Amino acid sequence: MCGIFGIVTQEEQTLGPILIAAARRLSYRGYDSVGCATLHEDGSIDLRKDVGKVDDVAERLNFAEMSGRRGITQLRWATFGVPSQVNSQPHLDSDGDLVGAHNGNVVNNIELRAAFIAEGMTVRSTNDGETCVHAVERYVDRGYSMLEAIRHAYEDLEGDYAFVIGRAGEEELYAFKKGSGLVAGLGEGFSCVSSDLPSILPLTRHVLRMEDGEIVVLRAERLTLIDVATGQPISREIEEVTEGMDAAQKGGYAHFMLKEIHEQPQVAQELLHLFDASPHVAPFVEQMRRARNLYLIGCGTSYHACVAGSVYLARLAGRPAIPVLAPQFIPQYAPTVGPEDVGIFVSQSGETKDVLNALHAARANEMQALGLVNVIGSTLTKKCDRYLPLACGYEISVPATKTFTNQMLAFLYLAMRLGGHETESLQQLPALIEQTLRETEPQVAALVDSLRAWDEFYCLGYGSTYPIALEGALKLKEITYAHCEGMLSTEFKHGPLAAVRESYPVLFVSGPEDVPLMISGINETTVRGGKTIVIAEEDPRLRANAHKMITLPAAGPLLTPLLAVLPLQLLSYQLSLARGYDPDFPRNLSKTLTVD
Ligand code: AGP
Repeated sequence: MCGIFGIVTQEEQTLGPILIAAARRLSYRGYDSVGCATLHEDGSIDLRKDVGKVDDVAERLNFAEMSGRRGITQLRWATFGVPSQVNSQPHLDSDGDLVGAHNGNVVNNIELRAAFIAEGMTVRSTNDGETCVHAVERYVDRGYSMLEAIRHAYEDLEGDYAFVIGRAGEEELYAFKKGSGLVAGLGEGFSCVSSDLPSILPLTRHVLRMEDGEIVVLRAERLTLIDVATGQPISREIEEVTEGMDAAQKGGYAHFMLKEIHEQPQVAQELLHLFDASPHVAPFVEQMRRARNLYLIGCGTSYHACVAGSVYLARLAGRPAIPVLAPQFIPQYAPTVGPEDVGIFVSQSGETKDVLNALHAARANEMQALGLVNVIGSTLTKKCDRYLPLACGYEISVPATKTFTNQMLAFLYLAMRLGGHETESLQQLPALIEQTLRETEPQVAALVDSLRAWDEFYCLGYGSTYPIALEGALKLKEITYAHCEGMLSTEFKHGPLAAVRESYPVLFVSGPEDVPLMISGINETTVRGGKTIVIAEEDPRLRANAHKMITLPAAGPLLTPLLAVLPLQLLSYQLSLARGYDPDFPRNLSKTLTVD
């Protein structure tokens, strides 16, 4: 995810403490490495950066003494490749008179790096932030002004990113965005720019929100917006922000959970960009292909993603894969595995002890280990043969949401690649997620009153929606404290159906291919007085039989499970609030369970 911050002041001054404070506020976006650069009026640039956490590096490299009229700081969230000093940001251009830093992902990084090397530039790292600097250098070297050079560079750089850059001997900083967040601020005698609003608020509440395709030129006394396409100024009011820091850190949402639910279109897009561009996906898939037995290993929500992954792998690659709860892997499978077997260990935190215990047991029998992990630099990323990142940025709310969706998407992507299918069709997913959230939020809100008083209910699914039923039930348990059991819909009649009585709520999650089977289950419930709530694409057969429907956009059997979990996330969130609880920090639970 990474984070950037830049400032321009009226006079040459000590900028170190301001940069350190901004870096601390951005550290939730990345903490593998941190760097600061200050630009002096004499044309010199002071660049200090290294691997490590903000305070450690700031002390070691004495950020506090850094001075100048312009300053940049960057927090790196390493996506590929171990964090290193040379990959830390900010970066210089070949001659050392441009310095810049980015957050996000430049998906054509490899191609551009090769081109810049061929053009004779000095390329020091493999980090795509350096690529952004050289992209501007290319046109400055051809005689363009910084503004014109940036306009050309913007077209060359593909992906989701935001970028800030300055040139020695000038007075301005320039910043622009394509897909990632960027906001500018104006205060007394300074202007600044950052990846997010909370890192600006302690300095100023006068902000200029930016859109893709815009460049902001920062001078101490003013901000100027320029349209990349035309080079013309854009007129936009500076707004005064009244929301508090806490609200700002939640992006204006009432809770981190709601913010993270609504981040899902963006993080799904970032994952697809990453996987499309990554050199690590092919060897990951190859290791899966060569496996004798393939195990998908996780806990809680991550285990549910493993169940979904096994359905995708069977359907798209004809590849059997065994989803198993990490602790159960140890007695049930570890004694049988060997070097030709592969385990995919799935964990958003990368620190879940149950998962690390299973990894240890697997390694004792020389099993190969792959990882799907969100927190880079976590123990799991260091203990696997290789890993792929979930690209979600920090997930702060205890109930997992965006990391689950990206775990499922990762499995879908890998299954398509393993099965030799084109992944192009996945590009529609971010927009479908956005549409699903928009369309189902009011449908869910209309159900809350009828469910609020129930302390128990079932959530049923089948085939590709079975893991979604498990996940929806966990979300409801986790933050409404009602006992909601996730189950295979066909199992319901083998006993649990006894729970059904007048008005008893049962949720059904149906894929388009399972409607006839679902209708049986729905009727077995309704004839006994139960109230059935069906989450599915619009289907007259379901609508005729269900008590209520939450309708999803028509997306087909592969994508429907990914969409079906969204109203369940929203329902658990809204029911939690209706029952008077805090969805972000539910009782008894913690975000990462590093104990047995
Ligand atoms: C999910 O909402 C819960 N927070 C919990 O089940 C979680 O998925 C589980 O503890 C696994 O965490 P991990 O993905 O970090 O390994």
